Amino acid sequence: MNEELIKNADACYQLAEQKAAQYFQTLFEQVSNKTYVSVLTNDFQVWKQQHIHHLPSISLRKKKSEAEGYQHYLQWLKYTGKLDPYLERSISYLFLRDLGKTLDDPDTISKLQRTIGSLKNYITKLDSSEKKNDLNMAAMYRWAQKEKIESAIIWLFDKLRTVSKNIPKGLEAEHAQRKLIKIIAGVMMHALVDMNEDLPPEERRQKLDQAIRLGYSYGLTYPFIDDLLDANILSSQEKQQYSDMIRTTLITGSVPKQRNWMGKNANFMQYIQSELESAFTYIKAQQPHETSSKFFEQAYVFFHSQEVDRIKNLANRHYRNEDLYIPIILKSSSSRLIARSVIEPAEDEGFESRTFFYGLYNQLADDFADMFDDLKDGAVTPYTYYLKHHNQRPDLINPFELYWAVIANLIHDVYHSDPKTREVILNRAINGLKRFKKRIGTQKYHEVMELFSFGNPSFQRLLQKMVRKAGDVDFFDKLLRDHMIFMLKNERKEQQEFLDTVDHVRDKINSLLRIPLDDNGSIMKNQMIEAANYCLEAGGKRLRPIITWVMGVNEYGLEQRAIEPLLKSLEYMHTASLIFDDLPSQDNSHIRRGRPTLHKAKTIAVAELTGLFLTQKAIEEQASLNRFDPDAVLRLIHYSAKKTELMCEGQAMDLDSKGKTLTLQHLNLLCAYKTSIAFEASLIMPAILAKANETEMMALKRFAYHAGIAFQIKDDLLDVEGEMDLMGKPIGKDDENDSSTFVSVLGLEGARKDMWENYCLAIEAWQHIPSQPAFLKHLMNYIVNRSR
Ligand code: IPE
Ligand code: IPE
Ligand code: MG
Ligand code: MG
Ligand code: MG
Repeated sequence: MNEELIKNADACYQLAEQKAAQYFQTLFEQVSNKTYVSVLTNDFQVWKQQHIHHLPSISLRKKKSEAEGYQHYLQWLKYTGKLDPYLERSISYLFLRDLGKTLDDPDTISKLQRTIGSLKNYITKLDSSEKKNDLNMAAMYRWAQKEKIESAIIWLFDKLRTVSKNIPKGLEAEHAQRKLIKIIAGVMMHALVDMNEDLPPEERRQKLDQAIRLGYSYGLTYPFIDDLLDANILSSQEKQQYSDMIRTTLITGSVPKQRNWMGKNANFMQYIQSELESAFTYIKAQQPHETSSKFFEQAYVFFHSQEVDRIKNLANRHYRNEDLYIPIILKSSSSRLIARSVIEPAEDEGFESRTFFYGLYNQLADDFADMFDDLKDGAVTPYTYYLKHHNQRPDLINPFELYWAVIANLIHDVYHSDPKTREVILNRAINGLKRFKKRIGTQKYHEVMELFSFGNPSFQRLLQKMVRKAGDVDFFDKLLRDHMIFMLKNERKEQQEFLDTVDHVRDKINSLLRIPLDDNGSIMKNQMIEAANYCLEAGGKRLRPIITWVMGVNEYGLEQRAIEPLLKSLEYMHTASLIFDDLPSQDNSHIRRGRPTLHKAKTIAVAELTGLFLTQKAIEEQASLNRFDPDAVLRLIHYSAKKTELMCEGQAMDLDSKGKTLTLQHLNLLCAYKTSIAFEASLIMPAILAKANETEMMALKRFAYHAGIAFQIKDDLLDVEGEMDLMGKPIGKDDENDSSTFVSVLGLEGARKDMWENYCLAIEAWQHIPSQPAFLKHLMNYIVNRSR
């Protein structure tokens, strides 16, 4: 590595270290002289006017399940008139912490009011009666459409999905995802706040697009650098190799090209390395020339201070106060400064210094909340170290005391006693203690307070009184955090349930499909049965009968045994349609479900006859649904015949479209017939047997229409971008046949957008299905994300 670069990085670090040492010295003096005590006592006297009410506090809130909590709490704030101050303190806090603003600046005040206004608008529109506890990708996509940044959001969806798939056991997936999303949201907020209302739409679009990509690129470093190095996933040798790689990256500005990962984490490391490579390349490319080195310099200070901190050993009895505090002053301030340097900074005076001082405050609050987890992990933080050693080390600074000194210093020296800042920071501090108390329980809380008491009984009594009695100190970001974790966990759980159900039901269906040979039948007949079984036994996804099983058995409570003929008939019909579709007279395909197509394995005539045989078998099965009302069964057979006609029509339109340029409208119609109808049948047939009402049928049809189109668009995309081994059918067929597909009509990017449009429309239709089966929602995620 270039000597000059290393020298430069070291020099930056030393400079930052000097500044941190000075700051530490100031704080040390304030703690020693106890100057902060009288200052904060006065502050609390003023502050409590707004927060301690002498009326008995009656809790108007009913206990709600966690899922309902978020909505209800916001509604409750609205009806009790508490929403405005709640948003005011919440957004002010984010402006201080994340944007490094001062709250007494007129420009900031107007931006703040604008932000509060739009958040309030959003909250007021939330309707507590609607189910909105899931990660609503459809709503996100709709927003992206409004801002015309669909490509960026589709890109982000893909990225987040890959991250979620690759997070190793041992890193808490939801927390990693939440952090990543939080960073992206933070970068978006920066961008939005900095935008003037008169910005031309195209510039606004570009800025938002950039914020999404930057947010992800930078956010990635949290789970994949910090958390990964903190966790016990990599071997010590891998950790060394990885941290060397990061160090080189930050010093030189690009990820080194080494690819020699070995051992059980090799694939994962390969993935991270290539992801970080693109991320750093993107960040670098976005930096304006003047600040391009700033990002890497700050990132280096951050990384190096983390490393210094990480190798500390809780058993070591000899760390000085400086050893404990200086690295965390460095890491906490640099992490905030990087965030800012990622986005083109329109810095005002004092931004850097405010951000620098703010860091430690935040870090001490976080470390306080996490002290028992950290202790369990053997991590050294000011709190864990104090807990372990303060009896033998009277020279150790009490971190809880230092925390209050930092607060006093912030309010008065950094923010010049600005009353609004005092209000927000004290709210946050008291809220932190309240949350901690609630989490660990009153008794343990008092024990902790005892342990960290620092010889100012009256100040401490005042604090405890505030913790007991003060109200209106909570924050939106905390509510959102809890809600996000709940949603992410819920999402993961539902997704796992979906996958388990699919596997489990597929096995059941596979065991039913084989057509038994006819002992009394002719050789010719049995050859036909063998040919049908050849196609059926190859591995299809069985989506259509799986949908029918889930709706029939789980939603309508029908007996599996009773609907088995229906399950078979759906897959027979579908398999027949594929046999025909692959014939030389149609798509002329040689491979299906990983095997030679039937006309290749046998003859065209055998394929044609087997296709016909299977469609008749399907009717035979339908006619043996003898455990249901015969009228319903007749309706079902009638419905099935009509829909099969439409499918043929769809295939005919498809073949007729070769070489032509269709309109989107025409393409949608064709696709509705050739693909959506089969999905519709798998939903409507069990509904007919269960005698579902007309409204439900309508919603199911609408859902199936869009689900089918989304499915076909993905099929068309996979025909270009997919892998034959996964798909079990050749790639590039559509192009070879000169077929009119969503890709040929709209282009790759246009097809992706239209797929998401249909995803949204399907989810919106799903919201009108009375029982809103989670399975169908996850089916949509599966459809747009599948690789086979
Ligand atoms: C293929 O259907 C035909 C289309 C509608 C694109 P599938 O992709 O469901 O095929 P199998 O049943 O899994 O083989
Ligand atoms: C076929 O569409 C639709 C049917 C229902 C047969 P495609 O022709 O795109 O299906 P694949 O790609 O061959 O599976
Ligand atoms: Mg076709
Ligand atoms: Mg085909
Ligand atoms: Mg296809």
